[in-house]
Parts: sequence; C-alpha cells; structure tokens
Amino acid sequence: MALLRLAYVSTSAIAGDPRERESIADILMSSRRNNETAGITGALLATDDRFAQVLEGEQETVEETYARITRDRCHVDIVLLLKEPVAPPPLRPVGCAWPQEPSPALELKPSLAITSQRSARAESRRASSVPRKTT
Ligand SMILES: Cc1cc2nc3c(=O)[nH]c(=O)nc-3n(C[C@H](O)[C@H](O)[C@H](O)COP(=O)(O)O)c2cc1C
Repeated sequence: MALLRLAYVSTSAIAGDPRERESIADILMSSRRNNETAGITGALLATDDRFAQVLEGEQETVEETYARITRDRCHVDIVLLLKEPVAPPPLRPVGCAWPQEPSPALELKPSLAITSQRSARAESRRASSVPRKTT
C-alpha cells in the first residue's frame, strides 16, 4: 500500500461571514467523520483568513479527498506545499504479533524479532519451570 503525505495552504472565503464559526465547525466535523472512515489522518489549522492542512494516508484516498477539498467554495487560492511518499509504519496493526509464527511485522524489524524470540524462549522456560498443580 502506497502512503502519501500532502500539505496545502488556502485563503478563507468565509472570513468575516456571520456564520464563519459554524461553517468551520461543520468543516471540522465532516473532515473528522470522512477521514476516519477513509483511514486518513491529518491536521487542519484555521487562522482569521487562512487554512492549512496536512493529510496522510493511502495515496488514492488522500488524492480523492484533496480533490474534493479543492472544489470547496469555503476557500480559494489553494497552494499545494508538499506531496511526498511516506514510509509505512514499522509495525503493522496486527493486534498482537505472535513471535513463533512468521509475521510481516517481525520480518521488517529483525532486532525486534530477535528480542521477541528471546522473550518467547524465556517465556517457555518460565512455563516449564512452574510447578504443575496436582490433584
Ligand atoms: C479548509 C478545508 C479543509 C477540509 N478538509 C477536509 C478533510 O480533511 N476531509 C474531508 O472529507 N473534507 C474536508 N473538507 C470538506 C470538503 O471540502 C467537503 O465539503 C466535504 O468532504 C463534504 O463531505 P460531506 O458531504 O460528508 O459533508 C474541507 C474543507 C475545507 C474548506
């Protein structure tokens, strides 16, 4: 999965509008809802008359989202500052890696794999030294 980071600045078209605060709150709400659904992370900054935003996530999704944002009439003069690939996080969200099985997360981190194998051995030694309950 190709990951993309994108950043832009824009000029607000709603600055001074009597509903400016509500409009910004609406933008923030739909951004949070849509981005969470789409698996995008980011940050939005709003000053008196400017917006700045960073978006990160799967390339196609970030590009689609950015295209939608640029069509929004709440801002104008959108300037793309940054569009760059991002390295995937070293550990994939696998829930709980089990070091005895081959795992992409552990393959990516040889030092962690060694540590994990050591802890697995230590764990198995501990387990075998625990006296078993006899009835
Ligand atoms: C400065 C600015 C930033 C925005 N950021 C996002 C965003 O990160 N994600 C998003 O889905 N929509 C964002 N929007 C809103 C979109 O332009 C669009 O209105 C919205 O996605 C429509 O979604 P909805 O139909 O669910 O309300 C932004 C709009 C502006 C003006």
